[in-house]
Amino acid sequence: MPDDAAALRRPVDPREFDAVEFQRDPFPLYKRLRDQHPVFHDRFHNRWILSRYSDIEAAFQDNQSFDRAVYDPNGSYEFGKRHIFGPNILEYGNSPQHRWMRNVVAGQFVGDRLDAFLPIIDMIAREVIATFEQDGEVELVTQFSSQFPIRVISNMLGLPREDEAMFVGWYQALIAGLGFGGEHLARGLAARNEMWDYIEPLIEQRRKSPGEDLLSRIAVAELDGKRMETIEIKGFVALLLAAGGDTTDKAIANMWYHMLYTRPDVFPQVLADPDLWSNVFTEMMRYDAVVHAQFRQTTREIPLHGEVIPRGAGVILYLGGGNRDERVFKDPDVFDIFRDDLHMGRENRSGKYKDGKPGHLGFGMGPHFCMGYAMARQEAAIGCGHLARALKNARPKFAAHEGIVSPSIDSGGFRSPRELWISFDPS
Ligand code: HEM
Repeated sequence: MPDDAAALRRPVDPREFDAVEFQRDPFPLYKRLRDQHPVFHDRFHNRWILSRYSDIEAAFQDNQSFDRAVYDPNGSYEFGKRHIFGPNILEYGNSPQHRWMRNVVAGQFVGDRLDAFLPIIDMIAREVIATFEQDGEVELVTQFSSQFPIRVISNMLGLPREDEAMFVGWYQALIAGLGFGGEHLARGLAARNEMWDYIEPLIEQRRKSPGEDLLSRIAVAELDGKRMETIEIKGFVALLLAAGGDTTDKAIANMWYHMLYTRPDVFPQVLADPDLWSNVFTEMMRYDAVVHAQFRQTTREIPLHGEVIPRGAGVILYLGGGNRDERVFKDPDVFDIFRDDLHMGRENRSGKYKDGKPGHLGFGMGPHFCMGYAMARQEAAIGCGHLARALKNARPKFAAHEGIVSPSIDSGGFRSPRELWISFDPS
């Protein structure tokens, strides 16, 4: 038997999830999970793992059986106090509060409301690019992608421009605290509290005299005669930094990495036809989505593939694995922006499309389906379009690259290149 085939048949040892190899390249392990253990009971980390497309899709859609919340939002303790985002929409799980809050805010990120924010996205992309476009080289992660989406959010919220750098600083501390314990968490919580102290008076002020900005819209939005409470708005803004900032930031870096290193043969076509950035985005969300894993807790026994996942079990949905499922996608390990077996347009929460093709799992599906799906696509397309025009003859500065990595996939760390140096001809 060839070495590769033997390696793929090796039974999974849960300690492999903690290995550096897995953080660098999780795909061979995902394949072994899909083929040998479609339901894997990881006794070492005390959790269950699903990795096939159809099982992940079913779990995302079945919020009753696979709950997003770990704690009961109606318990007799201060809900969300120790969470870095505070009480927020994700942690409300399958509760009526989740449905109510989602209905209050979801409309702000799509359709006409989103269109009204497009000039801000355009302006910030140009401003950030102007800081390096004469330099002939750029480190994309630090100089562009980790600046652009968060500055967009700050402006959408209508925060004063002179406070933008401070907002970016809180964002960086908060993200560093995400998922990691100790000092990082303490600094992240301190940054969150500072940010909360800063926006609280702004929330009050917007309630009294609302404008067109996102903070005003959220502050006065009403459903069933009720508005969001101040702590709920603060929790939502904190979540927005990670859910809307960090993810889109890393998505842009992943798109450029795959164009420069994985498919340099296709890159000239994308440069010649900027509409293709949308395909690059979609295929990136399938091939190596920023978010590879999501957590759920079972609320009943789940019989599946001859196993029974008990009630109350922690379940990891490896959407990064489902996205490479050969039961759904042809040659899943090929990054192909022209593939005809993937829905290439806008996503939706049902995951069902008129063209009959399956969608990627990168935004989740079902009741917690990403609320920023349309905004992320717009930001990525606008940002990448401006970058491509400004960075003439863009090429990797270094021939070799360590690739896309995840600090630790279960710690909340999102997958992206640590740095990405690009050389170009200054205009
Ligand atoms: C490429 C960028 C993005 C990726 C990869 C991404 C990924 C995800 C995923 C996988 C979920 C589902 C979580 C679950 O099922 O447990 C989610 C939820 C969410 N996302 Fe995104 N997201 C992105 C951009 C954004 C943006 C730009 C925003 C806001 C403007 C946003 C706001 C949210 C919110 C609020 C939720 C929670 C929805 C709920 O619980 O009902 N995301 N996102």
